[in-house]
Amino acid sequence: MVFVRSLVLLLKFLFLYSLFTFTFTTCFPQIQPKCHQYESHALLQFKEGFVINNLASDNLLGYPKTASWNSSTDCCSWDGIKCHEHTNQVIHIDLSSSQLYGKMDANSSLFRLVHLRVLDLSDNDFNYSPIPSKIGQLSQLKHLNLSLSLFSGEIPPHVSQLSKLLSLDLGYRAIVHPKGSTSNLLQLKLSSLRSIIQNSTKIEILFLSFVTISSTLPETLTNLTSLKALSLYNSELYGAFPVGVFHLPNLELLDLRYNPNLNGSLPEFQSSSLTRLGLDQTGFYGTLPVSIGKLSSLILLSISDCHFFGYIPSSLGNLTQLMDIDLSKNKFRGNPSASLANLTQLRLLDISHNEFTIETFSWVGKLSSLISLEISSVNIGSEIPLSFANLTQLVLLSAENSNIKGEIPSWIMNLTNLVVLDLPFNSLHGKLELDTFLKLKKLAVLNLSFNKLSLYSGKRSSHMTDSRIQSLELDSCNLVEIPTFIRDLGELEYLALALNNITSLPNWLWEKESLQGLVVNQNSLTGEITPLICNLKSLTYLDLAFNNLSGNVPSCLGNFSQSLQTLALKGNKLSGPIPQTYMIGNSLQRIDFSNNILQGQLPRALVNSRSLEFFDVSYNNINDSFPLWMKDLPELKVLSLSNNEFHGDIRCSDNMTCTFPKLHIIDLSHNEFSGSFPSEMIQGWKTMKTTNTSQLQYESYSTSNSAGQIRTTQSTFYTFTLSNKGFSRVYENLQNFYSLIAIDISSNKISGEIPQVIGELKGLVLLNLSNNMLIGSIPSSLGKLSKLEALDLSLNSLSGKIPKQLAEITFLEYLNVSFNNLTGPIPQNNQFSTFKDDSFEGNQGLCGDQLVKKCIDHAGPSTFDDDDDDDSESFFELYWTVVLIGYGGGLVAGVALGNTYFPQLKRVM
Ligand SMILES: *[C@@H]1O[C@H](CO)[C@@H](O)[C@H](O)[C@H]1NC(C)=O
Ligand SMILES: *[C@@H]1O[C@H](CO)[C@@H](O)[C@H](O)[C@H]1NC(C)=O
Ligand SMILES: *[C@@H]1O[C@H](CO)[C@@H](O)[C@H](O)[C@H]1NC(C)=O
Ligand SMILES: *[C@@H]1O[C@H](CO)[C@@H](O)[C@H](O)[C@H]1NC(C)=O
Ligand SMILES: *[C@@H]1O[C@H](CO)[C@@H](O)[C@H](O)[C@H]1NC(C)=O
Ligand SMILES: *[C@@H]1O[C@H](CO)[C@@H](O)[C@H](O)[C@H]1NC(C)=O
Ligand SMILES: *[C@@H]1O[C@H](CO)[C@@H](O)[C@H](O)[C@H]1NC(C)=O
Ligand SMILES: *[C@@H]1O[C@H](CO)[C@@H](O)[C@H](O)[C@H]1NC(C)=O
Repeated sequence: MVFVRSLVLLLKFLFLYSLFTFTFTTCFPQIQPKCHQYESHALLQFKEGFVINNLASDNLLGYPKTASWNSSTDCCSWDGIKCHEHTNQVIHIDLSSSQLYGKMDANSSLFRLVHLRVLDLSDNDFNYSPIPSKIGQLSQLKHLNLSLSLFSGEIPPHVSQLSKLLSLDLGYRAIVHPKGSTSNLLQLKLSSLRSIIQNSTKIEILFLSFVTISSTLPETLTNLTSLKALSLYNSELYGAFPVGVFHLPNLELLDLRYNPNLNGSLPEFQSSSLTRLGLDQTGFYGTLPVSIGKLSSLILLSISDCHFFGYIPSSLGNLTQLMDIDLSKNKFRGNPSASLANLTQLRLLDISHNEFTIETFSWVGKLSSLISLEISSVNIGSEIPLSFANLTQLVLLSAENSNIKGEIPSWIMNLTNLVVLDLPFNSLHGKLELDTFLKLKKLAVLNLSFNKLSLYSGKRSSHMTDSRIQSLELDSCNLVEIPTFIRDLGELEYLALALNNITSLPNWLWEKESLQGLVVNQNSLTGEITPLICNLKSLTYLDLAFNNLSGNVPSCLGNFSQSLQTLALKGNKLSGPIPQTYMIGNSLQRIDFSNNILQGQLPRALVNSRSLEFFDVSYNNINDSFPLWMKDLPELKVLSLSNNEFHGDIRCSDNMTCTFPKLHIIDLSHNEFSGSFPSEMIQGWKTMKTTNTSQLQYESYSTSNSAGQIRTTQSTFYTFTLSNKGFSRVYENLQNFYSLIAIDISSNKISGEIPQVIGELKGLVLLNLSNNMLIGSIPSSLGKLSKLEALDLSLNSLSGKIPKQLAEITFLEYLNVSFNNLTGPIPQNNQFSTFKDDSFEGNQGLCGDQLVKKCIDHAGPSTFDDDDDDDSESFFELYWTVVLIGYGGGLVAGVALGNTYFPQLKRVM
C-alpha cells in the first residue's frame, strides 16, 4: 500500500530533510531609514498583484507579511523589507512563506528595485508562472531564493547575469505531490548552467533540486571554489560526475540523490569540511575508501540504492560525529559492527538489504540515541536482541525478512516512542494479545504479517480511543475473526488481513469512516457483500479477492466513494450483474471482477472512469459485444475479457478510429468473437508499437523516486497465461506486469488472414492467435517483433512456409505453430533449434530436424524427395554429404548451405 509505506518514508524524509536543510544567515544592521517613494510604490504594486491564500505556503508558521504594508508608513520598516543604512534603498526582501498566491507578472514592479541584494520569495504559490527574465536586471543580488514557490518552465538564462550571487535556490523540495507524481516544474538548460558557473564564481549555495537539467554535469563545476552546498536532487543528470567536486575546499553539503543515471565512485578523500553527503539512487559504485575516515565533519552519509560493494572500512568508526547513516540496498559485505558500534551520536541507521553477516547485535544497544533503525534482510537468526531495549528513543524499527525468531518480547512495550514497528516476514511465534500494543501510545504503523504468530484479541472491555494506529497489517497471522480491538482504533486508515481464515466481517467495520484501505483477500469470507460497505466513503483500496463470497455485488459499489482506486473482487462466487453506475470524476484505476459467475453486459457508465488502467472480467458469464466504447478511456492499459460469452466482430465501426491510447495488454481469449482479423484496430494500438517499455509508466508507480522502497502488499497476483501448454507468467511486481505488451485472441472464431501490419507492434512480447480459423500464410513481418518471447499460432488453417525471418527473433522462448497446414522446412537456426516437435506437429507438409520427417530438398545436392525421407538411414547419408561438402568447399559451401546444418557440422569437428 502506497500510503502506508509513504508514511514510513515521510518520517524518514523529515529526519533527512532537517539534516539536508542548509540555512544561510545574513547579518543586517537594525537601522530604520526613510524609504524612497518610487520603491515604496513598486512594492505596493507588487503586493497588489497577489491575493493572500493560506494554502499557498506549506510552512505552518508562515503568515502574510505584505498584509501590514501600507503607503502611510516607511517601507523600510515593513515586514520583510530592509533598506541600505546610508542610501535608504531597498536591498532586502524576504517574503518567504507569506501565503502569496497569483501569477508573477513578467514586468513585475519588483524588477525596478535594482539595488536588491536579497530576494526571498520561497514557499509561496506563483501558480506555475515562468520565472521572469527581468530577474537578470537585479545585478546586485547576492541571495535569490525562489524555492518551493511553484514557478515553472525554463529558468531564464538571464539568471547568469547575477554575477554577485552567493546563493541561488530554485529547488523544489517537497516529495509529496497530490497525486504522488514528481514531474519537475522547472528546467535548466546546460548552457545556462554553464553560464551561471562561469559568471557567478563566488557562489556558495546552489540548490537546483527537482530542476530538470537532463545532461551531464560540466567539469567547470569544480571551478566554484567557494561552493559550500550543492543540491541536484532529482535533476535527471547522467554521465560521469566530475570527481573534483568532492575536493572543493569549502564544500559542506553535496546532495545528488535520485539521479539514477549519474555515475561515479568515491575519491580518496582529504580532510574536508563535508558534513552531508547524499548519493541515494544514483549510479555511484565501488567501495567505500578507507580515507572516508578523514571526513571528520561528516554527520550524514546517505548512499542507499547505489552500486556500492565490499566491506565497510573500520575508519568509518572514527567519525563519531556521524548522526545519520543509510547504507541500504547496496552489496556491502562482512560485519559492519566494528565500524558502527562507537558511533553513539547516530540517530538514523539503515543497513538493510545488503549482504552483511552480523553475528551479534549487542553493540546496537550502545547507540542509544537512535530514533530510526532499519535492518531488513539482515540475518538476525535469534530473538529480537535484548540490547534493543536500550533504544528508548526509537521512533521507527523496521526489520522485515530478517530471520527473527522467538516471541515478541514484552520489553518492546518499553519503547514508548515507537511510531512504526515493522516486523513482517520473520519467524516470530507464540500467542500474542493484540491489545498489548495499545500500550505504545504513539504507534501509528504496526506490521506483523507473515510470521507464525497466533494473534487474538484481549478481553479489554473499555473503549479507549487514544490509540494512534493508522495502519495495521496482519496478513497470514492465523486469525479466524477480525480482532475486536480494531473497533476502537479511531484513526485506522489501512487494515490488511490477507491470508487468514476470517469467515465474516463484523458490522462495526462499516462504521470506520477513516478507513482508506481494506484488504481481506484469501480468507474464508462467505455470504453476500453487505451494501453497508458503501458507508466507507474514504476507501481508496478494497480487496476481497479469493473468498467464498456469493450473491450479487452491491450496486452501490461502483460509485460510493469518489476516491476508490482499486476494487478487487476476483475469485469469489459473485453472481448477477456488474454494478452499473460509476460517477463522473471517479478515481477508479483497477477493477478486477474476474473468476466469478457474473452475467449481463459490461456497464457502459465505466466511460466515466477516466483513470481506469486495469479492467479484468475474465472467467465470468458476460454476454456482450466488443466494448469499443472503451477506446477513449485515456489510461486504459490492461483489458481482459477472456473466458466469457463475448461475441461479434472485433472491429472499429466505420469512420471511427480505435484509439485505445495506452492499451498494451489485451486478452480476448476463449470467447465467441468472430469476423476477420482486427487489423484496423491493431493499427490504432500505439502503445504496442513502443519498444521502450519504460514509457509504460503506471500511475501509482510514478512516484518512481521511491518505488524501490514502496512495498505494495500484494493482494492479487497478476498472471498472464499464453497457450494451454505451459507458457504462463506470474507477475508479482505490478511494474513488471505493466511493462508487458501482449495480445491474446486465442480460442475464438476469427477468420481470414493475419495481416502484415502485425509487424508494426514492435513491442509485442506475447502473441497468441491459436485456435481460430485463420488462413493464409504466416506474415514474415512477425520477424520484426524483436521483443517477442512467445508466439502461438497453433490450431488454425495457416498454410505456406514458416518465414525464415521468425528465426531472427532472439528472445523467442516459446513457439507453437502446431496443427496448421504449413509446409516446407522448419528454419533451423538460432532459437528455432531449441523448439521440440510439439511446436510443429500436425502440419503434414512440414519437415525438419524436430520432426520425424526430415527435409532433404533444400539440403544441397541430394536426390532424395520431399516425401520419402522418413527413414533415418537416408538422413545419415545426407548428413555425411553435408559434412563432406563443408569440408571440401570450405567457407563458401558452408555459407551457401545457410545455417541449417551448422550445428551438426560443429559437432563433427
Ligand atoms: C556575466 O555577468 C555580466 C555582468 O553581470 C553580464 O554582463 C554578462 O552578460 C554575464 N554573462 C552571461 C553569459 O550571462
Ligand atoms: C575553469 O575550469 C576550466 C577547466 O575545467 C579551466 O580551463 C578554466 O580556466 C577555469 N576557469 C577559471 C576562471 O578558473
Ligand atoms: C582513527 O583516528 C585515529 C586518530 O586520529 C588514528 O590514529 C586511527 O588510525 C584512525 N583509525 C582508523 C581505522 O582510521
Ligand atoms: C570504540 O571505542 C572504545 C573506547 O573509546 C575503543 O576502546 C574501541 O577500540 C573502539 N572500537 C572500535 C571498533 O573502534
Ligand atoms: C545502554 O545505553 C547506555 C547509554 O545510554 C550505555 O552506557 C549502555 O552501555 C547501553 N547498554 C547496552 C546494553 O548497550
Ligand atoms: C521495561 O520497563 C520496566 C518498567 O519500567 C522495567 O522494569 C524493565 O526492566 C524494562 N525492561 C527492559 C528489558 O529494559
Ligand atoms: C478455516 O476455518 C474453518 C472452520 O472455521 C476450518 O474448517 C478450516 O480448516 C480453516 N482453514 C484453514 C486454512 O485454516
Ligand atoms: C492444405 O494446403 C493444401 C495446399 O497447400 C490444400 O490443398 C489443402 O486443402 C489444405 N488443407 C487444409 C486442411 O486446409
